[in-house]
Amino acid sequence: MTAQPDGADLFEPFPLGDMVLSNRIVMAPMTRARCEQGVITDETVRYYVQRADAGLMVSEGVPVSPEALGYVHVPGIWEAEHVDGWRRVTDAVHEAQGRLFAQLWHVGRVSHRSLQPGSTAPVSSSGREAEGLRAFAMRADGTAGFVEATPPRPLTTHEVPRVVDDFKAAARNASAAGFDGVEIHGANGYLFEQFLNPHVNDRTDKYGGSVPNRCRLLLETIDRVVDAIGAGRCGVRLSPYAQVFDNPAYEETRETHLYLAEQLGDRGLAYVHLHEMGRSAGAPMLSDEFLREFKDGFRGPLMVAGGLTKEIATDYRRRDLVDLAAFGRPFIANPDLVTRLRYDLDLADADPATFYGGGTEGYTDHPTYAMSGHPA
Ligand SMILES: Cc1cc2nc3c(=O)[nH]c(=O)nc-3n(C[C@H](O)[C@H](O)[C@H](O)COP(=O)(O)O)c2cc1C
Repeated sequence: MTAQPDGADLFEPFPLGDMVLSNRIVMAPMTRARCEQGVITDETVRYYVQRADAGLMVSEGVPVSPEALGYVHVPGIWEAEHVDGWRRVTDAVHEAQGRLFAQLWHVGRVSHRSLQPGSTAPVSSSGREAEGLRAFAMRADGTAGFVEATPPRPLTTHEVPRVVDDFKAAARNASAAGFDGVEIHGANGYLFEQFLNPHVNDRTDKYGGSVPNRCRLLLETIDRVVDAIGAGRCGVRLSPYAQVFDNPAYEETRETHLYLAEQLGDRGLAYVHLHEMGRSAGAPMLSDEFLREFKDGFRGPLMVAGGLTKEIATDYRRRDLVDLAAFGRPFIANPDLVTRLRYDLDLADADPATFYGGGTEGYTDHPTYAMSGHPA
């Protein structure tokens, strides 16, 4: 195998917070719903170790509390049993010289009554029901699958600090479990986006109305998490312009995210991770101009995910538009993705039918390039 000299530095070390990543390739967070009791299994340990060559891995979304849950078979972080399970993963990843952040998650209204404590309605910024929204829960026939979400109720102003505290406790637990840091899941239409979006958030308290008010829950949460584990161990994921889960387009998208960039920069976060949700469908949402403005505002490491290829990531690096390149689906079928990208080896395709739930198939049974009979 010969290295492809390409002038970019994707495969070189990168300092992040108080650690040094071995390269700039990140495994994007991916829910795999393989933990039947909500607790880590041996296969989950194996899955992460197989992918530990990534400069950084971000874990699957980890609900911070029972209320935060929108999918069954997803491992939590609020009980000692969860922490012990994750400790097995982080120990094995560190043994393999990898780095792992926990993605801390609250789905807000993307949930179903059957997943909620006391079978109550899920919480959100408002009572606004989302069109066509589905959660991943147990169906009447006893199998797990997508079901219509239950209409939410708005969090009262007095309840909000409890949610913020759940994130703080989860960050502490993630630290105790040996994670290298946490990524607050502020993207993809979940709780924080339900607060950011003025068409969903109809609040009249300090969490609704103006841009700073709609950003307040996310920033208060980040402040509490930073208090608990330090800014250098805290990242955040955002998905500007994404419009997922009935979060409609809104006029102040750019203003909102540039405000967040400044605020997050002031806090010295480890990184911001932007999820580009259009490129896979052929219509990128994050213009070069937006990335540049966001990066200038944030003044820290910027990570982008969504439909990346080595060529796109290299181009981003050459123009210094992003610092870290995150890959999702390519990591599913290519546990040795860093090597394959580095040496321009063929990539295997993942099967979407095995993305969520099930056993080892499509999870831990993807061979490395060398193991799949190709010449090394
Ligand atoms: C099976 C699957 C599960 C995912 N789960 C999450 C998740 O838990 N949290 C999250 O922020 N994004 C999640 N994503 C989105 C990925 O992190 C990534 O942004 C997306 O797949 C686009 O990148 P790609 O084109 O490289 O796959 C998931 C994607 C897939 C395919």
